Amino acid sequence: MGETVLVVGGAGYIGSHCARMLAERGHTPVVFDNLSTGWKDAVRFGPFEHGDIRDATAVARALRAHQPKLVLHFAARSLVGESMQRPLDYYDNNVTGSVVLLEGCVRHGVENFVLSSTAAVYGVPERMPIGLDAPLAPINPYGASKMMVERAIEDACRASGAMGATCFRYFNAAGAHPEGDLGERHEPETHLIPNVLKAAVNGTPMSLFGDDYDTPDGTCVRDYVHVQDLVEAHLAVLAHPPRAGETRRYNLGTGEGLSVKQVILACEAETGGKIPVDIKPRRPGDPPSLVAGDTEKARAELGWTPRRSDVGTIVGDAWRWHRR
Ligand code: UFG
Repeated sequence: MGETVLVVGGAGYIGSHCARMLAERGHTPVVFDNLSTGWKDAVRFGPFEHGDIRDATAVARALRAHQPKLVLHFAARSLVGESMQRPLDYYDNNVTGSVVLLEGCVRHGVENFVLSSTAAVYGVPERMPIGLDAPLAPINPYGASKMMVERAIEDACRASGAMGATCFRYFNAAGAHPEGDLGERHEPETHLIPNVLKAAVNGTPMSLFGDDYDTPDGTCVRDYVHVQDLVEAHLAVLAHPPRAGETRRYNLGTGEGLSVKQVILACEAETGGKIPVDIKPRRPGDPPSLVAGDTEKARAELGWTPRRSDVGTIVGDAWRWHRR
Protein backbone atom coordinates (compact mmCIF):
# COMPACT_ATOMS: atom_id res chain seq x y z
CA MET A 1 0.00 0.00 0.00
CA GLY A 2 1.18 3.53 -0.72
CA GLU A 3 2.67 5.62 2.07
CA THR A 4 2.52 9.33 2.74
CA VAL A 5 6.07 10.63 2.72
CA LEU A 6 7.16 14.14 3.69
CA VAL A 7 9.77 15.29 1.18
CA VAL A 8 11.48 18.24 2.81
CA GLY A 9 13.25 20.25 0.12
CA GLY A 10 11.19 18.49 -2.53
CA ALA A 11 11.31 21.47 -4.90
CA GLY A 12 15.07 21.10 -5.33
CA TYR A 13 17.17 18.98 -7.64
CA ILE A 14 17.32 15.63 -5.83
CA GLY A 15 14.11 16.13 -3.80
CA SER A 16 11.96 16.70 -6.90
CA HIS A 17 13.29 13.55 -8.56
CA CYS A 18 12.52 11.67 -5.36
CA ALA A 19 8.96 13.03 -5.16
CA ARG A 20 8.42 11.90 -8.71
CA MET A 21 9.67 8.36 -8.12
CA LEU A 22 7.58 8.05 -4.95
CA ALA A 23 4.47 9.05 -6.89
CA GLU A 24 5.33 6.66 -9.72
CA ARG A 25 5.53 3.83 -7.18
CA GLY A 26 2.12 4.59 -5.67
CA HIS A 27 3.15 6.72 -2.69
CA THR A 28 2.03 10.24 -1.82
CA PRO A 29 4.96 12.66 -1.68
CA VAL A 30 4.09 15.78 0.31
CA VAL A 31 6.64 18.46 -0.54
CA PHE A 32 7.66 20.89 2.22
CA ASP A 33 9.88 23.65 0.82
CA ASN A 34 10.50 27.37 1.28
CA LEU A 35 11.33 27.80 -2.43
CA SER A 36 14.52 29.69 -1.56
CA THR A 37 16.55 27.63 -4.03
CA GLY A 38 13.91 25.18 -5.28
CA TRP A 39 11.39 25.65 -8.06
CA LYS A 40 7.61 25.71 -7.72
CA ASP A 41 7.21 24.14 -11.17
CA ALA A 42 9.19 21.10 -9.94
CA VAL A 43 6.47 20.44 -7.34
CA ARG A 44 3.97 18.50 -9.38
CA PHE A 45 3.80 15.01 -7.95
CA GLY A 46 1.74 15.53 -4.80
CA PRO A 47 0.58 18.12 -2.24
CA PHE A 48 2.71 21.18 -1.47
CA GLU A 49 3.29 22.76 1.94
CA HIS A 50 5.10 26.06 1.60
CA GLY A 51 7.24 26.53 4.71
CA ASP A 52 10.70 26.89 6.19
CA ILE A 53 12.36 24.18 8.30
CA ARG A 54 13.41 26.84 10.85
CA ASP A 55 9.72 27.62 11.48
CA ALA A 56 8.58 25.12 14.14
CA THR A 57 4.92 26.07 13.63
CA ALA A 58 5.03 25.42 9.90
CA VAL A 59 6.86 22.12 10.45
CA ALA A 60 4.31 21.00 13.08
CA ARG A 61 1.41 22.02 10.84
CA ALA A 62 2.69 19.88 7.96
CA LEU A 63 3.42 16.89 10.21
CA ARG A 64 -0.02 17.11 11.86
CA ALA A 65 -1.84 17.48 8.57
CA HIS A 66 -0.16 14.55 6.79
CA GLN A 67 1.10 12.29 9.62
CA PRO A 68 4.01 10.79 7.64
CA LYS A 69 5.93 7.86 9.11
CA LEU A 70 8.81 8.58 6.72
CA VAL A 71 10.50 11.99 6.37
CA LEU A 72 13.15 12.56 3.68
CA HIS A 73 15.24 15.64 4.41
CA PHE A 74 16.80 17.22 1.31
CA ALA A 75 16.46 20.87 2.37
CA ALA A 76 19.85 22.53 2.63
CA ARG A 77 22.08 25.19 1.26
CA SER A 78 24.70 23.17 -0.57
CA LEU A 79 27.29 25.35 -2.29
CA VAL A 80 30.76 24.84 -0.89
CA GLY A 81 32.10 28.22 -2.08
CA GLU A 82 29.10 30.15 -0.79
CA SER A 83 29.44 28.38 2.56
CA MET A 84 32.97 29.79 2.92
CA GLN A 85 31.63 33.30 2.37
CA ARG A 86 28.41 33.06 4.38
CA PRO A 87 29.05 30.36 7.00
CA LEU A 88 26.34 31.50 9.39
CA ASP A 89 23.66 31.11 6.71
CA TYR A 90 24.79 27.50 6.45
CA TYR A 91 24.76 26.83 10.18
CA ASP A 92 21.40 28.60 10.50
CA ASN A 93 19.63 26.87 7.64
CA ASN A 94 21.31 23.46 7.69
CA VAL A 95 21.92 22.96 11.41
CA THR A 96 19.27 25.05 13.19
CA GLY A 97 16.69 24.17 10.57
CA SER A 98 17.41 20.45 10.85
CA VAL A 99 17.20 20.59 14.64
CA VAL A 100 13.76 22.22 14.43
CA LEU A 101 12.65 19.63 11.88
CA LEU A 102 13.98 16.76 14.01
CA GLU A 103 12.25 18.05 17.09
CA GLY A 104 8.93 18.12 15.19
CA CYS A 105 9.53 14.62 13.79
CA VAL A 106 10.20 13.13 17.21
CA ARG A 107 7.17 14.87 18.69
CA HIS A 108 4.83 13.78 15.89
CA GLY A 109 5.79 10.12 15.90
CA VAL A 110 7.87 9.95 12.71
CA GLU A 111 9.48 6.50 12.65
CA ASN A 112 11.91 6.78 9.80
CA PHE A 113 14.10 9.80 8.99
CA VAL A 114 16.49 10.10 6.05
CA LEU A 115 19.16 12.78 5.68
CA SER A 116 20.88 13.91 2.49
CA SER A 117 24.45 14.07 3.70
CA THR A 118 27.58 14.50 1.67
CA ALA A 119 31.13 13.35 0.96
CA ALA A 120 32.10 16.85 2.11
CA VAL A 121 31.98 15.52 5.71
CA TYR A 122 35.30 13.74 4.97
CA GLY A 123 37.27 16.84 3.96
CA VAL A 124 40.52 15.85 2.23
CA PRO A 125 40.73 12.14 3.05
CA GLU A 126 44.07 10.42 3.38
CA ARG A 127 42.97 7.20 1.72
CA MET A 128 41.04 6.55 -1.46
CA PRO A 129 38.42 5.15 -1.83
CA ILE A 130 36.85 6.72 1.26
CA GLY A 131 35.59 4.15 3.75
CA LEU A 132 32.75 4.89 6.15
CA ASP A 133 35.27 4.78 8.97
CA ALA A 134 37.40 7.57 7.49
CA PRO A 135 37.78 10.47 9.90
CA LEU A 136 35.22 13.25 9.60
CA ALA A 137 37.25 16.36 8.91
CA PRO A 138 35.22 18.79 6.81
CA ILE A 139 37.18 21.70 5.35
CA ASN A 140 34.23 24.01 4.72
CA PRO A 141 31.10 25.14 6.61
CA TYR A 142 28.83 23.17 4.26
CA GLY A 143 30.50 19.86 5.17
CA ALA A 144 30.73 20.87 8.82
CA SER A 145 27.00 21.65 8.92
CA LYS A 146 26.12 18.20 7.56
CA MET A 147 28.49 16.50 9.99
CA MET A 148 26.74 18.29 12.86
CA VAL A 149 23.30 17.31 11.59
CA GLU A 150 24.31 13.66 11.30
CA ARG A 151 25.38 13.77 14.94
CA ALA A 152 22.19 15.53 16.05
CA ILE A 153 20.15 12.86 14.27
CA GLU A 154 22.03 10.04 15.91
CA ASP A 155 21.57 11.57 19.37
CA ALA A 156 17.89 12.38 18.76
CA CYS A 157 17.13 8.85 17.57
CA ARG A 158 18.92 7.23 20.48
CA ALA A 159 17.14 9.45 23.00
CA SER A 160 13.71 9.00 21.39
CA GLY A 161 14.04 5.23 21.18
CA ALA A 162 11.25 5.38 18.59
CA MET A 163 12.70 7.01 15.49
CA GLY A 164 15.38 5.42 13.31
CA ALA A 165 17.48 7.25 10.73
CA THR A 166 19.55 6.78 7.61
CA CYS A 167 22.27 9.25 6.57
CA PHE A 168 23.23 9.02 2.92
CA ARG A 169 26.60 10.56 2.13
CA TYR A 170 26.21 11.47 -1.53
CA PHE A 171 29.22 11.72 -3.75
CA ASN A 172 28.68 13.84 -6.90
CA ALA A 173 25.00 13.90 -7.80
CA ALA A 174 24.56 14.25 -11.56
CA GLY A 175 22.22 13.56 -14.47
CA ALA A 176 18.54 14.24 -14.92
CA HIS A 177 15.26 12.40 -15.30
CA PRO A 178 15.44 10.22 -18.45
CA GLU A 179 12.32 11.88 -19.85
CA GLY A 180 14.17 15.20 -20.02
CA ASP A 181 11.53 17.27 -18.21
CA LEU A 182 13.16 17.43 -14.77
CA GLY A 183 16.82 18.10 -14.03
CA GLU A 184 19.53 20.10 -12.33
CA ARG A 185 18.86 23.83 -12.13
CA HIS A 186 20.90 25.98 -9.79
CA GLU A 187 21.24 29.77 -9.75
CA PRO A 188 24.15 30.34 -10.10
CA GLU A 189 25.30 27.01 -11.54
CA THR A 190 28.63 25.87 -10.08
CA HIS A 191 28.56 22.16 -10.94
CA LEU A 192 30.75 20.62 -13.58
CA ILE A 193 28.40 18.78 -15.94
CA PRO A 194 25.81 21.58 -16.34
CA ASN A 195 28.62 24.06 -16.97
CA VAL A 196 30.25 21.84 -19.59
CA LEU A 197 26.91 21.36 -21.36
CA LYS A 198 26.23 25.10 -21.19
CA ALA A 199 29.55 25.68 -22.96
CA ALA A 200 28.50 23.12 -25.58
CA VAL A 201 25.28 25.07 -26.23
CA ASN A 202 26.51 28.66 -26.28
CA GLY A 203 30.12 28.23 -27.31
CA THR A 204 31.52 30.31 -24.42
CA PRO A 205 34.43 28.44 -22.84
CA MET A 206 33.86 26.63 -19.55
CA SER A 207 36.41 27.15 -16.78
CA LEU A 208 38.42 24.08 -15.82
CA PHE A 209 39.68 24.69 -12.31
CA GLY A 210 43.19 23.29 -12.10
CA ASP A 211 45.11 20.83 -14.29
CA ASP A 212 48.10 20.48 -11.98
CA TYR A 213 46.67 18.11 -9.36
CA ASP A 214 48.44 14.92 -8.39
CA THR A 215 45.95 12.78 -10.34
CA PRO A 216 46.42 10.70 -13.53
CA ASP A 217 45.64 13.59 -15.91
CA GLY A 218 46.15 16.50 -13.51
CA THR A 219 42.44 17.30 -13.09
CA CYS A 220 40.23 16.52 -10.08
CA VAL A 221 38.67 13.09 -9.76
CA ARG A 222 35.08 12.63 -8.54
CA ASP A 223 32.60 9.78 -8.15
CA TYR A 224 29.52 10.78 -10.17
CA VAL A 225 26.26 9.12 -9.25
CA HIS A 226 23.01 9.52 -11.17
CA VAL A 227 20.25 11.41 -9.39
CA GLN A 228 17.81 8.56 -10.18
CA ASP A 229 20.16 6.12 -8.46
CA LEU A 230 20.40 8.35 -5.39
CA VAL A 231 16.63 8.48 -5.27
CA GLU A 232 16.36 4.68 -5.56
CA ALA A 233 18.39 4.40 -2.34
CA HIS A 234 15.81 6.56 -0.55
CA LEU A 235 12.99 4.35 -1.74
CA ALA A 236 14.93 1.27 -0.60
CA VAL A 237 14.69 2.59 2.95
CA LEU A 238 10.93 1.95 2.83
CA ALA A 239 11.62 -1.76 2.40
CA HIS A 240 14.66 -1.79 4.70
CA PRO A 241 14.00 0.67 7.51
CA PRO A 242 16.44 1.16 10.39
CA ARG A 243 15.46 -0.17 13.79
CA ALA A 244 13.87 2.24 16.25
CA GLY A 245 16.61 4.32 17.86
CA GLU A 246 19.23 3.28 15.28
CA THR A 247 21.13 5.55 12.87
CA ARG A 248 22.68 4.03 9.75
CA ARG A 249 25.18 5.59 7.39
CA TYR A 250 25.98 4.82 3.77
CA ASN A 251 28.27 6.20 1.11
CA LEU A 252 26.30 6.61 -2.11
CA GLY A 253 28.71 6.45 -5.01
CA THR A 254 29.84 3.97 -7.63
CA GLY A 255 33.36 3.45 -6.29
CA GLU A 256 34.76 4.63 -9.65
CA GLY A 257 36.42 7.99 -10.14
CA LEU A 258 36.31 10.17 -13.26
CA SER A 259 38.53 13.16 -13.92
CA VAL A 260 37.24 16.53 -15.10
CA LYS A 261 38.89 15.89 -18.47
CA GLN A 262 37.16 12.50 -18.77
CA VAL A 263 33.80 14.16 -18.08
CA ILE A 264 34.46 16.79 -20.75
CA LEU A 265 35.36 14.04 -23.26
CA ALA A 266 32.11 12.21 -22.44
CA CYS A 267 30.17 15.44 -23.00
CA GLU A 268 31.90 15.95 -26.36
CA ALA A 269 30.95 12.41 -27.37
CA GLU A 270 27.32 13.09 -26.41
CA THR A 271 26.99 16.54 -27.97
CA GLY A 272 29.07 15.70 -31.03
CA GLY A 273 31.41 18.72 -30.97
CA LYS A 274 34.52 20.19 -29.39
CA ILE A 275 33.74 21.98 -26.11
CA PRO A 276 35.75 25.17 -25.51
CA VAL A 277 37.73 25.05 -22.25
CA ASP A 278 39.70 27.72 -20.35
CA ILE A 279 42.22 26.31 -17.88
CA LYS A 280 41.93 28.35 -14.68
CA PRO A 281 43.72 28.16 -11.31
CA ARG A 282 42.50 25.63 -8.75
CA ARG A 283 39.20 26.45 -7.06
CA PRO A 284 39.75 26.93 -3.32
CA GLY A 285 38.44 24.03 -1.25
CA ASP A 286 38.48 21.38 -4.02
CA PRO A 287 40.03 18.09 -2.83
CA PRO A 288 42.05 16.38 -5.62
CA SER A 289 40.07 13.16 -5.46
CA LEU A 290 36.83 11.90 -3.87
CA VAL A 291 35.78 8.32 -4.56
CA ALA A 292 33.32 6.32 -2.46
CA GLY A 293 34.44 3.25 -0.57
CA ASP A 294 32.27 0.76 1.31
CA THR A 295 29.70 0.94 -1.48
CA GLU A 296 28.84 -2.73 -0.91
CA LYS A 297 27.17 -1.82 2.40
CA ALA A 298 24.22 -0.21 0.59
CA ARG A 299 24.08 -3.18 -1.74
CA ALA A 300 24.05 -5.71 1.10
CA GLU A 301 21.66 -3.91 3.46
CA LEU A 302 19.38 -1.99 1.08
CA GLY A 303 19.72 -4.01 -2.11
CA TRP A 304 20.92 -0.81 -3.81
CA THR A 305 22.93 -0.93 -7.01
CA PRO A 306 23.54 2.11 -9.21
CA ARG A 307 22.02 1.41 -12.63
CA ARG A 308 22.29 4.72 -14.50
CA SER A 309 25.59 6.00 -13.12
CA ASP A 310 27.86 5.18 -16.06
CA VAL A 311 29.12 8.45 -17.51
CA GLY A 312 27.38 7.94 -20.88
CA THR A 313 23.94 7.65 -19.28
CA ILE A 314 24.55 10.53 -16.85
CA VAL A 315 25.68 12.88 -19.60
CA GLY A 316 23.01 11.65 -22.04
CA ASP A 317 20.21 12.34 -19.56
CA ALA A 318 21.70 15.71 -18.54
CA TRP A 319 22.02 16.72 -22.19
CA ARG A 320 18.38 15.86 -22.95
CA TRP A 321 17.34 18.14 -20.06
CA HIS A 322 19.73 20.94 -21.09
CA ARG A 323 18.52 21.05 -24.66
CA ARG A 324 15.03 21.75 -23.38
N1 UFG B 1 34.74 22.11 -12.02
C1 UFG B 1 35.33 22.80 -13.05
N2 UFG B 1 34.58 23.76 -13.66
C2 UFG B 1 33.31 24.08 -13.29
C3 UFG B 1 32.73 23.36 -12.24
C4 UFG B 1 33.48 22.39 -11.61
O1 UFG B 1 36.48 22.55 -13.41
O2 UFG B 1 32.70 24.98 -13.89
C5 UFG B 1 35.51 21.04 -11.36
C6 UFG B 1 35.72 21.31 -9.89
O3 UFG B 1 36.87 22.07 -9.70
C7 UFG B 1 35.81 19.89 -9.34
C8 UFG B 1 34.89 19.07 -10.24
O4 UFG B 1 34.74 19.85 -11.42
O5 UFG B 1 37.10 19.44 -9.48
C9 UFG B 1 33.53 18.80 -9.66
O6 UFG B 1 32.97 20.03 -9.22
P1 UFG B 1 31.44 20.21 -8.81
O7 UFG B 1 31.26 21.64 -8.43
O8 UFG B 1 30.57 19.68 -9.88
O9 UFG B 1 31.28 19.26 -7.57
P2 UFG B 1 32.10 19.24 -6.19
O10 UFG B 1 32.90 17.99 -6.21
O11 UFG B 1 32.81 20.50 -5.93
O12 UFG B 1 30.89 19.22 -5.14
C10 UFG B 1 30.21 18.06 -4.85
C11 UFG B 1 28.80 18.42 -4.35
C12 UFG B 1 28.90 19.19 -3.07
C13 UFG B 1 29.74 18.42 -2.09
C14 UFG B 1 31.08 18.09 -2.68
C15 UFG B 1 31.92 17.26 -1.76
O13 UFG B 1 28.14 19.19 -5.31
O14 UFG B 1 27.63 19.37 -2.54
O15 UFG B 1 30.90 17.36 -3.87
O16 UFG B 1 33.21 17.75 -1.83
F1 UFG B 1 29.94 19.16 -0.97
